[in-house]
Amino acid sequence: MPDFDLSIRGGTVVTASDTVRADVGIRNGRIAAVADRIEGAARSIDASGLLVMPGGIDSHVHLAQPTFGGPKMSDDFLTGTRSAIAGGTTTVIPFATQPRGASLRAVVSDYHKEADGKCFADYGFHLIITDPSPSVLGQELPAMVGDGYTSFKVFMTYADMVLNDRELLEVFDCARGCRALVMVHAEGYDAIQFMTERLERAGKTAPYYHGVSRPEIVEREAAHRAISHAELIDVPIMIVHVSGREAMEQIRWAQTRGLKIYGETCPQYIALTADDMKGLNMDESGGKYVCSPPPRDHASQEAIWQGLQQGVFQTFSSDHCPFMDGVDGKRSPKARTSFKWVPNGIPGVETRMAILWGLGVDKGRIGMNEFVALTSTNHAKMYGLYPQKGSIAPGFDADIVLWDPNRKETIRQELMHGACDYTPYEGLAVTGWPVMTILRGKPVCEEGKILGEPGDGGFLKRGISPYAAR
Ligand code: URP
Ligand code: ZN
Ligand code: ZN
Ligand code: ZN
Repeated sequence: MPDFDLSIRGGTVVTASDTVRADVGIRNGRIAAVADRIEGAARSIDASGLLVMPGGIDSHVHLAQPTFGGPKMSDDFLTGTRSAIAGGTTTVIPFATQPRGASLRAVVSDYHKEADGKCFADYGFHLIITDPSPSVLGQELPAMVGDGYTSFKVFMTYADMVLNDRELLEVFDCARGCRALVMVHAEGYDAIQFMTERLERAGKTAPYYHGVSRPEIVEREAAHRAISHAELIDVPIMIVHVSGREAMEQIRWAQTRGLKIYGETCPQYIALTADDMKGLNMDESGGKYVCSPPPRDHASQEAIWQGLQQGVFQTFSSDHCPFMDGVDGKRSPKARTSFKWVPNGIPGVETRMAILWGLGVDKGRIGMNEFVALTSTNHAKMYGLYPQKGSIAPGFDADIVLWDPNRKETIRQELMHGACDYTPYEGLAVTGWPVMTILRGKPVCEEGKILGEPGDGGFLKRGISPYAAR
């Protein structure tokens, strides 16, 4: 009997803390040894010239979520996780959304029916709370945290999801009690409504005005309000998809004061700007870039880099939320009448790692170890998956991406493995690309060819976040 099922030989192992030339031995889906030289494996993969990094963890992904009367998301759990593994990501944490009035238990059971047996990557669920009724806060949530759904998301905008200040405080208080980590979508609902109506009255309905209707001030105000509420309750929160300087500075201000406020940013805020939409109408696919918060300007991109370099942001997630660029998605007849009907969200689960490497590591803005922290390790720590996921050391799941730091690629739709019909990053040239993705010891994607099968990915019952309330 060989000692190992699989060995990865000749590569350079990169974790959030170290870079070492080492072989990796895998047994029963886990990393069994990291050593100078590993022999005696049933199969060996030559990784010379490649980096051996923890598989990506994308803790902000939307799959098969109903959009309350809007168009269908183009990725379900099968296609979305297929896209994830092709991009080097082995774990995703999508959302289970509570429609108002519904029991969260029933909702989560529906999402399991959609996901179980269909995923190419491992997965957990965050709970989106739209209706914090006494029974949800008092009974359902504490029980569900115990079952491994240890993080919630709340919205400060969107008519179907927005919580008022009182409700935010109630959810924060509940999270403090049951030690869940709360993700906050920080954009102010009333200000966006006001701006939207004013723009519509002026006939400014093209997709570009989506961004104008929710400027950085609106995001900064909501971030500050969320931080204040969190301080009042004394609960840690994670402000997600931070788009620019204003909200980033609020988070940094809170962190400087010793508050447990965490931050996430996404590829769209370093790779796109509002100008990408300028002048485009719906026939010219202007809806393709509509997401919230919207991409800003070059100065904001620089502020996001500062936040990444200074540790203001712990996680770099995709906020993958794909809709077809067609009448059944971005260009519905209703969406043509105003930006306000264009479904919000863009695909990105597959391109997330290549974009951060290409624009970050390859351009000298961040190091390789920071890259691993931002795309994998910190997600595992933040969301209760550590030390099962997020590093390469004995005992961890053998979730690995073999990365070629010298490979030049141009991001193009024809390279993608999801169900969406476009990528907002079409034409972006990057250096650095995943060449093989390994999920718990099984190669599931090699050179863009899917080797895995639906059902390879399993549900992850997550632990309490060490960053949640104590
Ligand atoms: O526009 C976006 N990001 N849609 C997805 C939902 C969300 O707020 O994350
Ligand atoms: Zn959001
Ligand atoms: Zn979003
Ligand atoms: Zn999102």
